Amino acid sequence: MKVSIIGGGGLVGSSAGFALQAGGIVRDICLVDVNPDLADGQALDLLHGSALLYDQRITSGGTEQCSDADVICITAGLRRKPDESRLDLINRNVSLFRSILTDLKKHGIRKDALIFVVSNPVDVLTYLAAQELGLPENQVIGLGTVLDTTRLRSLLAQRLNAPPTQVTATILGEHGDSMVPIWSAAQIAGLPLEKYPGVTQALLAEVEKRTRGSGAEVIKKKGGAGFAVGVSIADVIHDIALDSHRIQPISTVQNGAYGLHDVAISVPTIVGRKGAIQHIEIDMWPKEKAALQKSASVLRETIDKVLG
Ligand code: 2OP
Repeated sequence: MKVSIIGGGGLVGSSAGFALQAGGIVRDICLVDVNPDLADGQALDLLHGSALLYDQRITSGGTEQCSDADVICITAGLRRKPDESRLDLINRNVSLFRSILTDLKKHGIRKDALIFVVSNPVDVLTYLAAQELGLPENQVIGLGTVLDTTRLRSLLAQRLNAPPTQVTATILGEHGDSMVPIWSAAQIAGLPLEKYPGVTQALLAEVEKRTRGSGAEVIKKKGGAGFAVGVSIADVIHDIALDSHRIQPISTVQNGAYGLHDVAISVPTIVGRKGAIQHIEIDMWPKEKAALQKSASVLRETIDKVLG
């Protein structure tokens, strides 16, 4: 399977490239960037390590390298300033994103290609890509709250001294200020979260607050996310490559789950080789469902405002 990463010269795109290389599952990794030297340099740096990893093809180039890709991952975009919300980014990134979509249409893409949006605000741009590319909706997905979910699990594990891979928790809704942690379904090694040693409401509130602010915290400290967003991207792409049918909180255009329509937002979604296979309505507390629907209306308002 070939994955082309638009914005592959940047921190997010090159981190995703490295995570895919280290995962050894996809065969072809191509870094595409408006700065060809940067894309070439990142690809060369990855290539130099390939003898210790897997037999993959690692290349770089322009948008023409997307025409034969199975997955086109779009990470290009300007990064938020520490005090800027993701939605503030929208105006600066929509025109850039539209130009990328125009370029993709100009060079052509496979009719079964999957478009994987990471650029922010990811939910609005996922909706835009679904509208503009005319692909079946299952073929246009966004990273959504996969990164937030990864952060919540990892930060919870750190605070409770628990194994991060055994922390099951998910965040749904907008990848942004209105994201919704689903505490009702959270567990550690099969134990309901509230029964795990050391769990208090205050601790959960502290971890939730830190998770919500993690994007801004990382931007402030090191300019922006790289490693965690890279492995989150690779986790979804591996589900596609393996046709795993695992459930991921990716962002997709909704057609009825939780009563949501005509908005791209993260709900539990079965992911496989054809992209978003099915939305799954897990049980949740009424207040969580209300918060999810509020999150959808925040996104809907933005879509109406910005995309017209
Ligand atoms: C973040 O939360 C890049 O939006 C991403 O760091």
